Amino acid sequence: MQVWELTAWSRDGLRRTERPDPAPGPGEVVVGIEAASLNYRDLVMVNGGYGRAGGALPVVPLSDGAGRIVAVGDGVDPALAGQLVVPSFFQYWRSGRFPPDALTGALGGPLDGVLQERMLLDAGGVVAAPRGWTAQEASTLPCAAITAWSAVAVLARTRPGDVVVVEGTGGVACFAVQFAHLCGAHVVVVSSSDAKLAAVQRLGADTLINYRRTPQWGKAVRADVREADLVIELGGAETLGQALRAVRPGGTIALIGVLSGGLAELPLGPAVTREIRFQSVTCGSRDDLRDMVRAIDASTIRPMIDRTYPFEALPDAFDRLEAAAHVGKICVSGVA
Ligand SMILES: NC(=O)c1ccc[n+]([C@@H]2O[C@H](COP(=O)([O-])OP(=O)(O)OC[C@H]3O[C@@H](n4cnc5c(N)ncnc54)[C@H](OP(=O)(O)O)[C@@H]3O)[C@@H](O)[C@H]2O)c1
Repeated sequence: MQVWELTAWSRDGLRRTERPDPAPGPGEVVVGIEAASLNYRDLVMVNGGYGRAGGALPVVPLSDGAGRIVAVGDGVDPALAGQLVVPSFFQYWRSGRFPPDALTGALGGPLDGVLQERMLLDAGGVVAAPRGWTAQEASTLPCAAITAWSAVAVLARTRPGDVVVVEGTGGVACFAVQFAHLCGAHVVVVSSSDAKLAAVQRLGADTLINYRRTPQWGKAVRADVREADLVIELGGAETLGQALRAVRPGGTIALIGVLSGGLAELPLGPAVTREIRFQSVTCGSRDDLRDMVRAIDASTIRPMIDRTYPFEALPDAFDRLEAAAHVGKICVSGVA
């Protein structure tokens, strides 16, 4: 079967090659991967940014994909054959809160990821795709969507009337807008671009702020809407200060991303005197993924797909991600 492999910790280390077709053992399934999607994490991973947590080379890149079950091992219901499924991002985190060994089971490093024609997985590590979704749409779910879901619905328990601020218009951000809107929140999006803001307005964003024109956007949120109940913190070093300005006493800052750098200065005064909850978010479990699919099934949500590249054009997909020209998710087709 055809695969992409990362053979050195750099973009030049990406190679197309072949591996033997997998056969399912007891409790396992083989999924014919039809589509994949990129996350910012994949860019960091390819460049060796996860250090030893990235595992050993060669590794098949990309954590997120979807496809149909094409073979089942002993003990797995044969009726599952043909079902469209998505692999859970953390293969060993099935339920409950974050277990200590979760990172060892991440797809796309240290475990082999989805850019392979046929992927061997534990039957308990996959979840049925939302009803009526294509493989391409379903491929957007495992990392970006579950992270947004965990922050908005599971950890912050967003309720109707809450104010939720979302930073940027990338993969996690677009799903955060959609889930916060689904929960009945007033959604504020801050972005570098008016065109991108117009795109996310269609997803349910209520208030749009261009952070290039309004660098003090935390103040603008308070003035134009009200203090936020939840801030989806994706920017890291450059944005944490504004997130702290925007959030209400007792509100939550969901610490998710480090897009502008991983070392941030935190003014402790406004943090410790207002009972701010700093809630780190690390994707979610297999059961969280299932719950999220159930919520999607009961909604009209569809993912924001920016562009889809053929399997062989993976480097071009990485270029677009790196340029941050996209809104939502960048996808890659399967081999076929
Ligand atoms: N903790 C977790 O479990 C978890 C899971 C998934 C992702 N993440 C992290 O979350 C972040 C986003 O991931 P992603 O895959 O959604 O990324 P992405 O699709 O590449 O999103 C990038 C977008 O973020 C916005 N952005 C960049 N710098 C910004 C800044 N300084 N302030 C505000 N917005 C900024 C830009 O949108 P605009 O041009 O519209 O501003 C950019 O297009 C990454 O750091 C990723 O590693 C963490």
